[in-house]
Amino acid sequence: MSDDELPTGVALTALDEAFRSDPYPILARLRSGNPVLHDEALGRYVYTSHDDVKAILRDKDLWSDPRKANPGTFTREFLGSSDEEPSMLLMDEPDHRRLRMLVSRPFTPAAVQRWRTQIEETVEAVLDGIGTDEFDLIAEFAGPVPTIVIARMLGIDESKVETFKAWSDTSVKIAFNPFSSPEELEAGQQAGEALNAFFAGEISARRADPGSDLISDMIRAEAEGETLAESEIIAQCNLLLVAGNVTTTDLIGNGMKALLDHPDQLAKLRADPTLIENAVEEMLRFDSPVTNSGRIANREVDFGGCPVHQGESLSTSLAAANRDPAVYPDPDRFDIERADTHHQAFGGGRHLCLGAHLARLEAQVAILGLLDRYPNLEHSDRGFRYASVPTFRGMTEFWVRGERV
Ligand code: HEM
Repeated sequence: MSDDELPTGVALTALDEAFRSDPYPILARLRSGNPVLHDEALGRYVYTSHDDVKAILRDKDLWSDPRKANPGTFTREFLGSSDEEPSMLLMDEPDHRRLRMLVSRPFTPAAVQRWRTQIEETVEAVLDGIGTDEFDLIAEFAGPVPTIVIARMLGIDESKVETFKAWSDTSVKIAFNPFSSPEELEAGQQAGEALNAFFAGEISARRADPGSDLISDMIRAEAEGETLAESEIIAQCNLLLVAGNVTTTDLIGNGMKALLDHPDQLAKLRADPTLIENAVEEMLRFDSPVTNSGRIANREVDFGGCPVHQGESLSTSLAAANRDPAVYPDPDRFDIERADTHHQAFGGGRHLCLGAHLARLEAQVAILGLLDRYPNLEHSDRGFRYASVPTFRGMTEFWVRGERV
């Protein structure tokens, strides 16, 4: 197939209706037609084979700082324009390592397990708040759970969580969308400023009265001789929101949709809840909440047999990699007992998702909690709607119904 026949640019993002409703046939065409596509419209090379994606993400020399990308490339134009302090996602060594070390302690598997009870309580409280048998699973359940969990981890007072969630939702909307409307940009920027001011206030409150939360941890690290400036703490707090909330909401939403779409798999999970860990990995593989990550060529590179110049954007399609038939037998089948569920949904290498263990635990607890409370949960006629935010795959609404016990 020639590149002319393959979709490029916006047609490869959730802004396009066909891609938004089902990206997988489009990504499969790309993978078999040209697994390294030069997407000139958006100034990037798009990689869709599992092995190329894996190799790029794990290449420790490639860059992530958009300021190093060539002018006109995707990364430079869409991620490099902010005057704000970059988060670790967009940093290179040695700054990346230093920051990651400073915030990583609470995200290890053992540290995350200590949050299990709090997460279970949060899930139960959110379930208690659902008042009707027919409800929007995103607004009533999958949305609130991760925001409340991260707010608690940051030590934010319960009374401020609603406002915090509203700002976070509005500012996240523009974070990965290069095509935001002027109104969305304006609203997003205002919410972003409000959040920054809010975090600055939280930081000074914790300086006066430290606790056992994440913000206090970062301040303590600063006090122990590391140079973590206030602006850096604010940037990391923002990253935890941007990187952690929408993605976990999408995992719970996409995962529940996969289960309701495949009643045999749902029945298996109900019959044997110990399958939940494997089921969540399969949900991450089958319908990845983050569709793309990327790096910048730090040299002349050649992944998948295509030479690419220094400074160019390498866009790795995690969604395509996770459905590569060369790696996964029958990749479009959702199978919670799949033997090999390893996937690229959390990226890889130096920038491997810091919140992976937290996201997994939240999704496991949330999905089992929901199934327990609703023994006959099913799709409602009111349907679902996918979000049009590039980089993410998730729903803005997903109506379900069932009698609760
Ligand atoms: C299902 C939920 C999630 C998914 C699918 C996801 C996915 C990702 C991906 C694809 C990356 C980029 C990795 C790369 O380029 O190699 C990333 C980075 C990151 N994620 Fe997540 N994420 C999720 C939840 C979370 C949560 C809950 C948090 C924290 C509260 C979090 C914090 C981060 C951070 C801090 C980074 C940047 C790491 C770095 O640059 O070193 N994520 N995530």
